[in-house]
Order: sequence, then structure tokens, then C-alpha cells
Amino acid sequence: MCGIVGAVAQRDIAEILLEGLRRLEYRGYDSAGLAVIDAQGKMGRLRRLGKVQMLADALDQHPLHGGTGIAHTRWATHGEPSEANAHPHVSDYIAVVHNGIIENHEPLRELLIERGYRFDSETDTEVIAHLVHWEQLQGGTLLEVVQRVIPQLRGAYGTVVMDSRDPSVLVAARSGSPLVIGRGVGENFIASDQLALLPVTRRFLFLEEGDVAEVKRRSVSVYDKNGHAVEREEIESKVQYDAGDKGVYRHYMQKEIYEQPLAIKNTLEGRFSHGEVNLSELGEKADDILSRVQHIQIIACGTSYNSGMVARYWFESLAGMPCDVEIASEFRYRKSAVRPGSLIITLSQSGETADTLAALRLSKELGYLGSLAVCNVAGSSLVRESDLALMTKAGTEIGVASTKAFTTQLTVLLMLVARMGRLKGVAPQVEHDIVHALQALPARIEQMLSLDKTIEALAEGFSDKHHALFLGRGDQYPIAMEGALKLKEISYIHAEAYAAGELKHGPLALIDADMPVIVIAPNNELLEKLKSNIEEVRARGGLLYVFADQNAGFTDSDGMKIIQLPHVEEIVAPIFYTVPLQLLSYYVALIKGTDVDQPRNLAKSVTVE
Ligand code: AGP
Ligand code: GLU
Repeated sequence: MCGIVGAVAQRDIAEILLEGLRRLEYRGYDSAGLAVIDAQGKMGRLRRLGKVQMLADALDQHPLHGGTGIAHTRWATHGEPSEANAHPHVSDYIAVVHNGIIENHEPLRELLIERGYRFDSETDTEVIAHLVHWEQLQGGTLLEVVQRVIPQLRGAYGTVVMDSRDPSVLVAARSGSPLVIGRGVGENFIASDQLALLPVTRRFLFLEEGDVAEVKRRSVSVYDKNGHAVEREEIESKVQYDAGDKGVYRHYMQKEIYEQPLAIKNTLEGRFSHGEVNLSELGEKADDILSRVQHIQIIACGTSYNSGMVARYWFESLAGMPCDVEIASEFRYRKSAVRPGSLIITLSQSGETADTLAALRLSKELGYLGSLAVCNVAGSSLVRESDLALMTKAGTEIGVASTKAFTTQLTVLLMLVARMGRLKGVAPQVEHDIVHALQALPARIEQMLSLDKTIEALAEGFSDKHHALFLGRGDQYPIAMEGALKLKEISYIHAEAYAAGELKHGPLALIDADMPVIVIAPNNELLEKLKSNIEEVRARGGLLYVFADQNAGFTDSDGMKIIQLPHVEEIVAPIFYTVPLQLLSYYVALIKGTDVDQPRNLAKSVTVE
């Protein structure tokens, strides 16, 4: 799930590799390394446990010179994060960086040990280095050697291989994890994400599944999975790397929470005409596909899954469209029955999540009507491989804990609900209400954000807690799930979400004064039911934090803290109520002193299954 960067150039490339790694750190950040071939054909390798900055400091002390090299930032799957397990892995003059998993690494390791190879790491990756070494002893160019190695590997991965005896070439192979070639003038580059290469080029070739590329200073040759030479279209990237600095904010996550009114505005921009949602960007084939849809199957992971859960309520209640939602890693490995006229909608911030991509690919074999991706990254694998795509326009999200990508996903989904509703003959008033609510939303969130200090003051109450419960009903139940996920991710407090009506079926047993219970209480038709659930907690001495509509009739009392929120249009309430929960998690994490933007064990883009 790592970041990969490679370069074949005439100038020193260590700094280019390092800058690439910095931009890819979101993909994994437990260790990093690079290997560079110098003018004498000697390979220098430097690896460090921890963030890319540790590697940068080491490189200051021990500069590496040379024009050909590979670099990696790791998210450990096999073997603990350590310097010895950090990439590149070497086998004499062969060096390898690798993203993903080699599933048959155990038998390969045994085979290679029998052949006399010694392993210096616990990684699955090291087998690639030794296999390449073994195969090159049998002769052939590095390209031919890698082409012979690939059929021996099982799993989903991307890899780049270098031979210090021949600095003129790097060989890259894509099998399940994205790789892109960046074309320069008299120099070429490889990376697992174009963001890494934007300082050096905007011209990219995306490798396709099974491709192997031979990358030299003045040429790039690509071969498909059958070994045939193929042309991959070169595109001029318009992607912006707008991580910028954190400005007045302490963390990217905080900045991204505050950017939400603007991000939502950008997502809405140009998508209304005459009081209706206008998604003409979907292109001509959209009408044909969408008019035949009878059922929607949403697939996603993590936070994106939570937004799918909200969308299910919307599709069914506002567009009368049957909708199911499933976690991608479950969907891909179960024998599911395809409903007639089913459209698959995948949701993903990154567009590179391995499970979601695999689910999309599977859906093509299963006979779905078509596929639509809701994604934040133009040009990502998910967007390229889907029939239709809607972009969320949240701008680059750096914090590992997703915030603005989630609320903009919901924004797009609600527009799609309006569009589908119109096709299904739902009363025009519903669409007008949606449009009105969405247009009002950025200002409502702006207003909400002014309660920042009130929410910060609550965080203290969580500093000594080990568990928390989140409750919501209806379309706020998934928001409770999202609130719990945020708290877990960045504060490491164990948090669970329940549909409030489900509490009495078991979780009520957990309630005591050490268990904060966070309740989402908009002023809707479920309010009275929710109030009963709140009483069930109070009666058992639970400690309640109720995020309530100011008109919902709550007042502070013993064991119950009310956070009065401005009224918001009911349709967009799930988006609105997400924001105070994001802030709460953020401030709890600050008190806990965790690494907010890069919480332990996680990575921004999960490109392994
Ligand atoms: C969000 O806070 C998480 N870091 C995570 O659950 C994320 O949403 C999930 O990995 C899916 O990512 P995607 O949206 O890029 O597909
Ligand atoms: N499986 C490899 C390892 O554990 C690669 C992990 C990654 O993608 O960063 O080193």
C-alpha cells in the first residue's frame, strides 16, 4: 500500500525521489527508503524507520548521488515496521520496491533458500529481489527477466526493479496496484501516484493490469500481460497538488474540516440549472443507463461506506429507488445475486482502494447494468474503469481521517438522488427541496463551525475514557457510525455506533458513568423515539452528550450535556451533523496527543486487500 517512486535521468535524483515520497506519505508511513546508482555503477541504499522526514535527515548526513534510483514509503503487511524490513530490498546488484502482497511468498522463500539465498528481512517483497537475481543468472535483459518472474508471483502488487550493473533502465510491473509512468525530457519517472511526479512532469502513461514497462531515459516501452508491445495513451495531467501548507491550522485534518463549506460549494458549482440538478457531465450514455436502473448497489470501504449507508436512506425515501450497500471486501468474496436492472455505485475518496476496485471489476463479470464512481481523484483507477463518474471536488485531502471527502461525497450522492428521482417521476417538489437544502448547506456549516470552542470544551470529558457509544436513528445512524470511526481513528478510543432503537437489545448493558454516549438529535419525525432512547441511557446512569437541533426542546441536566446546533434543512442534516462529530474527535485527539494527520497503523490510500 506503499508509495513507489523511480527515476532514470542524467541529473542527481535523490531529492526528486524524496519529494515524491513526501507526497506519497499518505499511502503509508511506517518506514521509507531509497537506492540510487552512482556514476561508478555502485548502488547506495538508505532506509529509515519512521516518517519520510527521518529518511530526509539521513540523506542530509549521507548524500546519495546518481541519476537512476527507486524509493519507497512502506505500510507493513509482512514483517514489523523496521529498518531491515524497509524497502528497497536487494539481492546483490538487484534492488526492488514493492507495493501490495505476494501471497505465495512462503513457498517461494523456501525454494529460494534451497537455491542458497539468504533472507535479510521478514517481508514478502524480498522474494522478488532474489527471484529476479536467480532469473537473470539464466540470461536476458532486465525486462525479459521480470517477465519471467511475474508468472511465478501470486497476489496484487506493483513493483519496480533496478539492476546496478545497468543504470540505463528500470522495469515496472503492475498487477493489481496502480503505477504511472511520468515522461520528462531526456528523463523518465515511475510512481504509484501521479502526485509524486508533478514537480518533474505533467505527461503521464497509466499502466494497465498486467503491464510491464521498460523505462529508459529516452524511451518507455510497455508490454501487456501476454508480452505484446502496446501503446498506452499519454495524457497531460491537470491534477493539482494543493496540499499547500496548513496555513493558520495546526493539522491538515483541522484545515480540511474548516474547508468543508468551500469544498461543498465547489462540488455544487455548475451542477444546477433552472432549480434542477444538472449532471450533464455524465455524458450521453448516462441517460440510457440511468433510465433503465431499477436497483442500486453501493460498494465502498470505511468512511466511504458510511456515506453509502446515508445514500441508501436517501435513494429509497427521496427517489423511491431500492438500494443496498455493502462493504467492498465482503462483496468481492461472496456469491451475490444480482438484482434486475442494478447499477453499481462505487464510492471512494482515492479511487485506488484495492477492495473497491476489485468489487467494480467483479461487477462487470456479474452482469450489472453499468457502473458509476463517486470519487475525489480525477484519473484514478476507479474513475477510469467505471462507465460513469461524478467527481467530489473536495480538493486534495491529506489527513488520513477523511472529512471533506465524506461530506462532498454525500453532496454528490444527494444530487444523484435528485436526478434519479426525476427519471423515476418523483414529484418535482422533492428535487426543489433538495436543491434548496444543498444551496443553503455551506452557510449552515459555516454557522456550525462557529461553535468550535463549545465543542472543544467537551473534549476534556473524553480524555480519561476508553470507550464511547454513538447513537443515531434513520439517516443519522450512519453519521453515528462515521462519528465513531473518526474517534477510533485519531484518538484511539474504542467507539461503536448503534441505531438508537437497537440499544436495548444488548449494548445497554455497557452503560455506566465511564461510557460517554454521544447522541445525534435533529428535529425530525424520529425525535420522540430518540428521546425515549436517551431516557433509557439516563435511567442507567449513562453520561450523555446530545448534539441537538436548537428547536428540539433539550436542556442541560444531570448527566446530560446538550450541544445546541442551528436548525438545518432536514434533507441535508446528515451532512451537517457530521461536522461537530469531526470536531469532537479532533479535539479529543489533541488532548490525547496522538498524530492527528497520520494516526498509527493506518494509511490514506488502502491499495492492499
Ligand atoms: C477514513 O477516515 C478512513 N481513513 C478510511 O476508512 C477510508 O475511508 C477507506 O479506507 C476508504 O478509502 P477511499 O474512500 O479512498 O476508498
Ligand atoms: N508487503 C510489503 C511489505 O510488507 C509491501 C507493503 C507496502 O505496500 O508498503 O513490505
